[in-house]
Amino acid sequence: MAFDPSALDLYRDPQVFERERRSIFAKTWQFFTLASDFARAGDYVSDTLAGFSIVVVRDAQGLLHGFHNVCPHRAGPLVGEGKGRCDRELVCKVHDWRFSFDGRLTTAPGFEGVAGFDAGAQHLFPIQVGVWRGFVFVNLDLAAASLGDLMKPLEDRLPAPIERPARLQHAHPVDCNWKIYVENYLDGSGVMEEAGPNYVELARTLTIEGEVVLHQSDDGRRAGAQWAWVWPNLAFSLYRGVLLIEHMKPKSAEVTEVKHIFLHEPEDVGVDAAVVASEEVTEDNAWICERIQQNLAAGVFTASAGRAPYERAVIWFRERVVRSLG
Ligand code: FES
Repeated sequence: MAFDPSALDLYRDPQVFERERRSIFAKTWQFFTLASDFARAGDYVSDTLAGFSIVVVRDAQGLLHGFHNVCPHRAGPLVGEGKGRCDRELVCKVHDWRFSFDGRLTTAPGFEGVAGFDAGAQHLFPIQVGVWRGFVFVNLDLAAASLGDLMKPLEDRLPAPIERPARLQHAHPVDCNWKIYVENYLDGSGVMEEAGPNYVELARTLTIEGEVVLHQSDDGRRAGAQWAWVWPNLAFSLYRGVLLIEHMKPKSAEVTEVKHIFLHEPEDVGVDAAVVASEEVTEDNAWICERIQQNLAAGVFTASAGRAPYERAVIWFRERVVRSLG
């Protein structure tokens, strides 16, 4: 059955969010963490993406393996959320089933000699892991096109390799649908920049290449500034020598967690000002997005009045969402 956006509230309905989980977030490359988090064999990172609990672990050869953090016995968790290290195996926290780092079941206590139990048929639920420029991504769809294809428009635009120290990894909870936050980011009406006690709007040029939306500063004084958004919910902002990764993670139909990682040159003296300015802009954006969510819930607004040229990326994004759900 074709998806009819007029029949469901795209920004509030839990049924739409459930559909997005399956049709968008289970099929697209999602930013996960930094490759530097996997320095040693057994290092792992676990996180929840649109309700899917994920774990990525490094083996003795340096390969990264990704799985749903879900035991095939009775759905127990293998690890808690966050970073950690395990010895030589992943061990389920419920009944201690043990799995090698490539996902094979090695030990199932209590199942020795159980008729019909085939340990060789048991395996963790695998996902794809990709690394690009020192960033680790995951994709729940084993048949999805490569991460490299998706990131091609950024190959010549972001510095390579990106090996800057990271700091200020934190998350902003925002009470709005994830698409409202994305649309606010993609709106081409202007980027605000700190200028003394005030903010000024930066002129910029918008282009869409593949599934990447690129904004470039038109102001010659800000040569090298880049804003890039990658379908469906990731943004890179390169400005004043600081690279900000902004992951707009949906938690539910009406809650988004915006995760920020700032990467910068160690000797960069402008980093503090850039980070402070960025966080203030995020606070303002969160305030706007939460008010939009509340106004949609109020039921007064029914449809937008038209399409201005600066809304080109927003329209592209909406059509891309509907196409994914159809
Ligand atoms: S749920 Fe994992 S061992 Fe039972």
